[in-house]
Amino acid sequence: MSEVSRRGFLSSAVAGGLVAPIAAPALLRLRSPVAISSFNGLKAVEIAWQRMTEGWRPVDAAVAGVSVVEDDPEDDGVGIGGLPNEDGVVELDASVMDGPSGLAGAVASLQNIQNPAQVALKVMRHTDHVLLVGEGALRFARAHGFPEVNLLTEAARKKWLEWREKRSAIDDWISPDENGEHGKAWFDKYKHKTGTIHLGAVAANGDVGSCTTTSGLAFKLAGRVGDSPVIGCGNYCDNDVGTGGGTGRGEASILINSASFLVQQMGLGKPPTDACLAAVQRVDRLTKIKRLRDDKGRLNFQIQFYATNKKGEFGSASTYADQFAVCDDKGPRRVDMASLYGEPPPK
Ligand code: GLY
Repeated sequence: MSEVSRRGFLSSAVAGGLVAPIAAPALLRLRSPVAISSFNGLKAVEIAWQRMTEGWRPVDAAVAGVSVVEDDPEDDGVGIGGLPNEDGVVELDASVMDGPSGLAGAVASLQNIQNPAQVALKVMRHTDHVLLVGEGALRFARAHGFPEVNLLTEAARKKWLEWREKRSAIDDWISPDENGEHGKAWFDKYKHKTGTIHLGAVAANGDVGSCTTTSGLAFKLAGRVGDSPVIGCGNYCDNDVGTGGGTGRGEASILINSASFLVQQMGLGKPPTDACLAAVQRVDRLTKIKRLRDDKGRLNFQIQFYATNKKGEFGSASTYADQFAVCDDKGPRRVDMASLYGEPPPK
């Protein structure tokens, strides 16, 4: 395994703070709320932070923040404007989790609804369930008055059409052989883009909440669900510990149960950045398929993890160099994350 990026590690270690194991003090009072997200969430963390200073519960603040990204047609990984599945249909996934109640809600493969994170909140608060999918999730959203809209923007439709025309006879249906010796070349040429926002929120009293929302892997098989709506994978929080979440290759995140792993690592005493690095290293250790590695044996995909603890410390780490967004009393900003390889992701 390559050396972890020193520059990325140091900058986010300073940002996240190298600290003693987390206790769970009864009367914790932070200097300021904290919101952390993926790179695309600069505005989202600012809104979430603002809402928490107004006394909003962290999970509601998180959803208010990500809704702005879901509403942005220019962001092609989330909400309206998200890239569609291989049939040209936009299918959205989202989840929320609330620290104080320990409850979660999620939707997957949801069509025609612009704000799946808001629907996930309704699942959490208005049902005895955690996850609704497909047609059932749509009917539930309709029942709660969410308007139906065409999520496929012209820009996204043109990108999908270009992909259709260029993909030749190759698609996501792969033979067992492609998981073997000769699968790598296929994957290098046709791997797909992901776009997602995860937002972890810590209120000034130490309560936590979290949210992850996405249109998933671009041009995915219809019905493919990634890690974002899977509680414990793309999103998790524990009010005694903190929040964890991921973006990037959802399959890898699911296979290591990443978000619950992040929170467990912090519960065992790791600072947030170290917990995120441990998750990246776990992906590296558990990825055994050759087509997911380059000629040097390195993972050939990007995956990013984010964590906050109850004290308001935060951190992030990825396979390849990247940045995350954070907002506290110093204002919204982007910060380098720690990374396994310390260089930009492969094109
Ligand atoms: N991480 C988002 C997805 O894979 O769908």
